[in-house]
Amino acid sequence: MTWDKKHLIEIDPFSREDIENIFSFSKLLEPYSGIDKTKKRRQTNMCQGDLMVLWFEQQTEKSTRTFGSFESAISRLGGDKKDFDELRSSIGKGESIKDTSRILSGQCDLIVDRHTDPQHVYTVSINSMVPVINAGNGSDQHPTQTLLDISFMYVLFDTVDGLTIAMVGDLKYGRTVHSLMKGLEKFKDVNIVGISPPGLEMPEKYIGKNYEGRTIDMKNLDKELSDIGPKVVYATRIQNERLPEGEDPAKFIYKINNATLKHLPENTRIMHPLPRILEIDPEIDKDPRAVYFQQADYGVPVRMAIITTLLGYEDEVLKLR
Ligand code: NCD
Repeated sequence: MTWDKKHLIEIDPFSREDIENIFSFSKLLEPYSGIDKTKKRRQTNMCQGDLMVLWFEQQTEKSTRTFGSFESAISRLGGDKKDFDELRSSIGKGESIKDTSRILSGQCDLIVDRHTDPQHVYTVSINSMVPVINAGNGSDQHPTQTLLDISFMYVLFDTVDGLTIAMVGDLKYGRTVHSLMKGLEKFKDVNIVGISPPGLEMPEKYIGKNYEGRTIDMKNLDKELSDIGPKVVYATRIQNERLPEGEDPAKFIYKINNATLKHLPENTRIMHPLPRILEIDPEIDKDPRAVYFQQADYGVPVRMAIITTLLGYEDEVLKLR
């Protein structure tokens, strides 16, 4: 299977090569992204005249990184963006998502969609005349975060094959780990151990090969991690806003801190899609194993790679070699 490059809705259709192409584009575009503050940013106008619409549902789908890195990415490429404000739109008059998608797509070249309803992005893409990107559909998936996470693993380790990855925390409602599972399946000998408190286990439908789920009392997390000795700890936030009503988030809280690091090898890397709330103690931020901020920065070149691919600028990107 290979990605048809029409829309980016799920990670499933991506081949390993498709994922690696995004990574190699992100490397080519990195000098233009401005993430390395020690170097002068190079200029490109590859997307001059292109307009990207950000359709982010604002009530529950708060966003800093995904929204911001898409904005930065199009701007670093010389393109423009506009926010689609649902509350000000004719959706309030009863206009359907179907018609709204058709109309919006006539006004722009690319739509980035984040919505609580997992089906929303499918409706938008079916009715859009321009490429649509899933920037997080409810508790289902977050494929551009996965492309970022896997690209960043390449930055860290030069390969993804053979990695042992401990996914920790809310594996039930955290969409980043769902699509990451699907993405990692394309690689060789990746061992994934999912560690979660009772009730937040990875749903069956996302589980692929080489997955072992461990439901534990999170007080024993350090011991569990020391037993696994993972190359990557991929920590996730408890998705308070997605828990069923009446469920007390406090019972799921866990913490990765200096004591945890004592149990982890020097070459382990702690990743997190962020935002971190309580699960990562800021006391570890300066430890070389804590790479979550660099991971987040890398979102800009990866989203530049995604945008240029979907808009058909592959030849122009390859000329940057
Ligand atoms: C994640 C998300 O929105 O799913 N954030 C992000 O996009 N980097 C993770 C989260 O909110 O916990």
